[in-house]
Amino acid sequence: MKVNQAEFVISAVGPSQYPDDALPEIALAGRSNVGKSSLINRMINRKNLARTSSTPGKTQHLNYYRINEDLYFVDFPGYGYAKVSKTQRQAWGGMIEKYLLERETLRLILLIIDLRHPPSKDDELMYDWLKHHDLPVCVVATKADKIPKSRWQKHMKIIRDALVLRAGDQLMLFSSEAGIGREELWEQINSFIRD
Ligand code: GTP
Ligand code: MG
Repeated sequence: MKVNQAEFVISAVGPSQYPDDALPEIALAGRSNVGKSSLINRMINRKNLARTSSTPGKTQHLNYYRINEDLYFVDFPGYGYAKVSKTQRQAWGGMIEKYLLERETLRLILLIIDLRHPPSKDDELMYDWLKHHDLPVCVVATKADKIPKSRWQKHMKIIRDALVLRAGDQLMLFSSEAGIGREELWEQINSFIRD
């Protein structure tokens, strides 16, 4: 994909604010601070279009980014961030669940995992929930620049085994810092947005 244009569209708090032009949507889910927003920035090669932060819990709504006239990236709030109140967490959970189950233009969920660590309980629950609802998932193990190449395959296997990856679901290696895996991920995304 050649990114000619990328723009922030809206920080949506509910369905009435979601775009209505029916472009395919690629959602990004994952733990707080895992690198979801950074991955979007790397995919479009812009430093800071998607807000990133070393303070977890920064992304709080569904943030829509339009790429060309081709697709939206939908950046989710991260899960598993303890300092968020329970009420707030439930509200976000409800919004995301509804989005995932009802959004007709949703084509693929990128489940972002930290390559350095085994998936958390929340990651496992998220993956199982998505598969229970038959949703298409691509697991992306990011921050690959933080461990030596010689250990990548070992870490990938730990992730694959812990999640019990279903047939047809890809596990891809990525680094927003180093740009590793960008082309491969675009190919994967393209294969899901083509009709
Ligand atoms: P929330 O919006 O809070 O859920 O976080 P997020 O998942 O969007 O994470 P974000 O992209 O804001 O990144 C969190 C931190 O990780 C930032 O300090 C990033 O610079 C860093 N980071 C993200 N991706 C990478 C990567 O591939 N390599 C390295 N070394 N650091 C990364
Ligand atoms: Mg974010």
